[in-house]
Amino acid sequence: MDIAATVLDRKEIADRVEALGEQITRDYQGKKLVLICVLNGAFIFLADVARAINLDIEIDFIRVASYGNETESSGSIILRKEPDIDLAGKDILLVEDIVDSGITIAWLHEYFTIKHQAASVKICALINKYERRIVPVQVDYAGFQIDKGFIVGYGLDYAQKYRNLPDICTLAK
Ligand code: IMP
Ligand code: MG
Repeated sequence: MDIAATVLDRKEIADRVEALGEQITRDYQGKKLVLICVLNGAFIFLADVARAINLDIEIDFIRVASYGNETESSGSIILRKEPDIDLAGKDILLVEDIVDSGITIAWLHEYFTIKHQAASVKICALINKYERRIVPVQVDYAGFQIDKGFIVGYGLDYAQKYRNLPDICTLAK
């Protein structure tokens, strides 16, 4: 498998991430914002969106495994790494690479709402891919909407490869 086409280039991504950062900066004035990066896919998006937010924020990381094949999640989620910082009373923004079936982000939303006494839990996803949605989820901040297709780059992988591509691309079959 190799790259077939560029879907979103680095300039489009940078401009959109900058705009998301400005919107988040406006919305979270006076709040205790904590960005939670959903590993591994969101690491590059987190790095860029965090620097586009002009507020005093905290950053932590969570890692979950969702079993399935390389292109589709199965629905069973296992927690691999929990955040370390105290989240009670804080405003959590989950930073995710892509919401597809919605299973992962719905699980995370419930986990943070129930387990930690957060003031609020919202979702920021670079890509909202809605055709295969199984669980209804509200993506509060979405970088881009796509209906379908498997994409890689800018943190997104296929079997752990292509995460370092600066553009978001489709793969040739
Ligand atoms: P969901 O639980 O089905 O919403 O799956 C979300 C996870 O599946 C994402 O965090 C990605 O890791 C992975 N995923 C879904 N679609 C894609 C894609 O097009 N490219 C790369 N990873 C994807
Ligand atoms: Mg992911």
